Amino acid sequence: MTDKPPPARGASFRVVAGIALLALIVFAAVLVAIMSNSEPGSSEINAESYAEEVAAALTNADSEVGGDLVYELECNLCHLQGDGSLSPLFFGLADFASERRTPLSAEQYLYEAILYPGLHLVEGYTNAMPNNYAERLSQQDVGHIIAYLLTFAAEESDP
Ligand code: HEC
Repeated sequence: MTDKPPPARGASFRVVAGIALLALIVFAAVLVAIMSNSEPGSSEINAESYAEEVAAALTNADSEVGGDLVYELECNLCHLQGDGSLSPLFFGLADFASERRTPLSAEQYLYEAILYPGLHLVEGYTNAMPNNYAERLSQQDVGHIIAYLLTFAAEESDP
């Protein structure tokens, strides 16, 4: 007669815990690998960054579809309303997007700004933009949105 659990129980718990820990480590490693693949860090940015993805996304891009998406996704709530103190307004992007993050072109910069907003912040703003558009948007959708954003010339209230 004893109160101790049968030894097998303790052993199987250790095996399960070991497997769970191992799975967690593998998962973390895979996650790090995926992230370092899809999000080039600042130091790796060059003129080729995103070039292929952007060219593909812009094939058949339609700025009108992009405009619909911007309102459906409520980008307008931050970027087309208010005085621009919390989020930069889209007005003028067509003129200065190519200068925001050299050597990225305007299109490449916008692509990064939408999909990986944490990589480079517009000066004077915080990291307040949702960072899940990479999961929510197709590459084609991003192309439509870029085409729409490039219709915003400076000093206009609406494209
Ligand atoms: C909750 C508010 C918010 C929403 C919603 C939001 N953004 Fe932003 N966005 C920001 C802020 C704040 C910044 C500046 C910080 C940074 O660079 O990430 C920014 C930066 C940007 C920039 C860079 C602008 C520049 O002047 O260089 C682009 C482009 C952009 N957002 C596009 C979008 C698009 C497209 C959507 C919708 C799919 C969107 N944003 C949704 C807050 C928002």
